[in-house]
Amino acid sequence: MNRPLQIKGLTIRNRIAVPPMVCFHWTDDNGYVCDKNIEHYRALAEGGVGLIIVEATAITKRSRLADTELGIWEDGQIEGLKKIVDVIHAGGAKAFIQLLHAGGNGIDKEADAPSDMVYRKVNNAHEMSKERIRETIDDFVAAALRAEKAGFDGVELHGCHGYLISQFCNSRCNFRTDEYGKNKALFARETLEAIKAACGDDFVVGIRLGAFEPTLEDGLENARFIADCCDFIDASYGGDCDAFAPEGFKCSGAVYGASEIKKILPDMPVFGVHNINSKEDIENALATGIDMVDLGKAHLVDPAFANHVLNGEPYGQCLHCKDYCRWNPWEMADPNKKCPGALKFARPQQ
Ligand SMILES: Cc1cc2nc3c(=O)[nH]c(=O)nc-3n(C[C@H](O)[C@H](O)[C@H](O)COP(=O)(O)O)c2cc1C
Repeated sequence: MNRPLQIKGLTIRNRIAVPPMVCFHWTDDNGYVCDKNIEHYRALAEGGVGLIIVEATAITKRSRLADTELGIWEDGQIEGLKKIVDVIHAGGAKAFIQLLHAGGNGIDKEADAPSDMVYRKVNNAHEMSKERIRETIDDFVAAALRAEKAGFDGVELHGCHGYLISQFCNSRCNFRTDEYGKNKALFARETLEAIKAACGDDFVVGIRLGAFEPTLEDGLENARFIADCCDFIDASYGGDCDAFAPEGFKCSGAVYGASEIKKILPDMPVFGVHNINSKEDIENALATGIDMVDLGKAHLVDPAFANHVLNGEPYGQCLHCKDYCRWNPWEMADPNKKCPGALKFARPQQ
């Protein structure tokens, strides 16, 4: 886990990453970076991780998943994002940013989506015309260029968990009969290609892809189809999907999916995620052949998790209490509640 990982010209100091995690309610309706965001990423970078993938950041105001998330839809947002990049680099980590279009699963009640469909019982999403698809790809490109200007080492498309790209990739919400329906990953591919054509050669361009979208076979087909136009695949769950791990597999379904992608694309840097919460979990996940592990909630509990594990020191662990978590887009998290895992770790060691 302490070996560097090379992605194109970029050397990442170890195999531990912070996956994108939105800090809901920190920013306001304008999506601008605030001091709290900067201090959050400073602590994570100083905590020893190799790579931080900055949280899902909306490419247009309409395409947000919540009205208090970061945005990258206008040039004025670059300055704040640059401050995040600077603290991440000063802490010795590399910085990617996740670019999000929420499609039917966002705040827009009349959202764009691959096909007409009602999402979460409240959003009447509408099939995008080819012109709208083109405009949306342009929005992704403009956002990636802003990310490059802000100094990020790369971008990750949010292509999983049921947001726009994932909606295109999944036959349970993409009913199109044109080329974007016949080939579910075409929208993802064209977006990756357009970003690559617009950004510099050394800028890293990858995707967080559903390994199950909805099935593992579909996830693998999607991965294969985009492989030659992206620099890494950060595998996670799809939207409405049938995820699993075989009996006896020591890690999550998402890590299983990632390891299957690695098998068919051995030269592709592949990341895996979910419930990696200890040194042993990291070792088990990396032993499946994947290149990088994403530790989400473990880092919310203990921002220096990576240093603590790498130096053989005590580390905090997510207790899976489901009682308190910042994953709460639609309601204000109770500010008086504290993460029990963080509280337990903060107590003086006996
Ligand atoms: C507070 C919070 C915010 C999240 N936001 C995002 C996000 O912006 N983009 C994304 O792809 N996944 C997001 N996720 C999912 C995480 O990246 C990760 O896949 C998930 O937490 C499972 O990993 P873990 O068990 O290590 O926490 C979020 C998770 C949490 C807990």
